[in-house]
Amino acid sequence: MPSVCAAIVAFSLTIGLTGSTVERFDGEEGGSSSQSVYSEYDDEDPPTFALGSQAFTVAVGDTFTIPCDIINQGRHLLVIHHINTKGKKLLLSAGEMKLVRTERVQIDPTGVTIYDAQRQDAGFYNCSLPTAGKFILQHKLDVLYPPSVNSSSPPVQQAVLGQRLELFCNADGNPRPEIDWTFEGGALPAGAAVNQAGHLVIERVDRRVEGKYVCTADNGIGNDSYVTLEVVVEFPPEIITEKSVVRTGAGDQLELVCLARGRPSPRVSWTRKGQSVDHATHSTVADDVYRSTLVIRPMTEQDFGNYVCTAQNIHGQKSVVVQMTGLPQQPNLTGVAGGGKENSYTLTWETESYCPIVAYKIVFGRVQQKSAEVNGSTEKNVHEITVEMDVGTENGNTHPAMSHILNDLDASTEYEAIVKVKNRYGWSAESDKFCFATSSASPVHRSTSRSVGGAGERSSAAVSLLLPLLAAASACQRCRGFCGRITSP
Ligand SMILES: *[C@@H]1O[C@H](CO)[C@@H](O)[C@H](O)[C@H]1NC(C)=O
Ligand SMILES: *[C@@H]1O[C@H](CO)[C@@H](O)[C@H](O)[C@H]1NC(C)=O
Ligand SMILES: *[C@@H]1O[C@H](CO)[C@@H](O)[C@H](O)[C@H]1NC(C)=O
Ligand SMILES: *[C@@H]1O[C@H](CO)[C@@H](O)[C@H](O)[C@H]1NC(C)=O
Ligand SMILES: *[C@@H]1O[C@H](CO)[C@@H](O)[C@H](O)[C@H]1NC(C)=O
Repeated sequence: MPSVCAAIVAFSLTIGLTGSTVERFDGEEGGSSSQSVYSEYDDEDPPTFALGSQAFTVAVGDTFTIPCDIINQGRHLLVIHHINTKGKKLLLSAGEMKLVRTERVQIDPTGVTIYDAQRQDAGFYNCSLPTAGKFILQHKLDVLYPPSVNSSSPPVQQAVLGQRLELFCNADGNPRPEIDWTFEGGALPAGAAVNQAGHLVIERVDRRVEGKYVCTADNGIGNDSYVTLEVVVEFPPEIITEKSVVRTGAGDQLELVCLARGRPSPRVSWTRKGQSVDHATHSTVADDVYRSTLVIRPMTEQDFGNYVCTAQNIHGQKSVVVQMTGLPQQPNLTGVAGGGKENSYTLTWETESYCPIVAYKIVFGRVQQKSAEVNGSTEKNVHEITVEMDVGTENGNTHPAMSHILNDLDASTEYEAIVKVKNRYGWSAESDKFCFATSSASPVHRSTSRSVGGAGERSSAAVSLLLPLLAAASACQRCRGFCGRITSP
């Protein structure tokens, strides 16, 4: 116990070192102190703290001591309070009496030692001698802790094409962590930026922003902390068609298939002439691909026409027209190498038809020079040949190739020709214009088609009648579905 040294008269003393004030508890100005209950302290030297206020910084898990060493403590009782960062006050000790339950706190004669520092230990520590009046030493404690990140965004975030997206990343840690974002393990996609709050902002979502994002927080204490967020982009339907024209013949069964992609998965429906065709079957092919199959059985001529496949989800709808026709395809007109002789030329073409080709028509004439376009000079130029064909044996060829030799042509002359073909359902569209030249004239390249001109022997045949290379004969009862599927029950 400290010895009593000197009497203290009523006073107020400021201790420069600590900024604390020592006041005599019972000192009343102008009053008598002789009868005070605390008069026993009157003889002591005034107590002082040996150290000044300090700011301590420790890391989580460390052990630290709050020093409250006092000079001339006398019989005054040391009381230690903790005031946490929220301002809550907790009495830790009074003298040697520990007033908190935690094992981590150990009361020393000159302070308090705390083991395994925790975040809640941060704040202020007041050492005080209540019996010596407002005699307080205040220390400050900062507890560093590793980062932790959180996101209020769902782990899988649905984003809509064209919209704004913000991914939240809330980081905690002392010191304040730095936030870093990665996309699929690398740089952020175009259009993505990190804002001041550390959140990732994508102003206009497109399909490239789909994937995994990682938000990492680092403050140099302990391990980094990260959170993974996945972005899934929702989009209005797209229709994946392989063919918008389906050629077929009447027969047993035909399947029209409409594949649509969209997120969420679209609903697909069929209409014809504005009426719903509701006997389609539906299935989901992949996550976001939906397939609708329209089966027409039996397939008759009345079923030809336009079918509209419509895919719809909450973000929009898309339609395509699938034309189902029995007509032959527009022929693809080409020449053959060496097909050009001095006075004749062999035209060849291909088409697609599910019924035999029964006729074709060729229209041809000389290519008119600008200078020759005078009135009267065209009258004899355009020739038209229509050929009826004998449908013989059915060989099932749905892509017949045909040819025809044009005779009585002028030598060294440029010609142009178109062709169309007919089956039992009617005429195809006309081919693109095809340009060719008889020999001794330079080949010309004029249309989208190949032009073949060439030197050759003088044609001996005076008139070669129509020569279908391959008779176009196909089984009408065999039907071919959209997407090339053949179904034969
Ligand atoms: C702690 O010390 C400060 C500064 O002296 C004082 O303002 C505050 O009231 C004290 N709090 C407690 C609980 O002792
Ligand atoms: C994480 O989320 C929880 C619950 O919403 C919240 O209590 C906590 O403070 C958050 N942590 C961070 C680092 O934001
Ligand atoms: C830090 O990360 C390492 C490697 O992943 C791990 O072994 C260690 O336990 C982690 N430390 C903490 C404190 O989580
Ligand atoms: C026409 O035939 C040529 C040569 O065989 C081919 O390259 C081209 O793709 C065909 N065009 C059409 C529209 O079928
Ligand atoms: C061609 O005939 C048309 C009417 O048929 C006439 O208007 C035009 O002037 C004629 N051109 C020439 C070059 O004779």
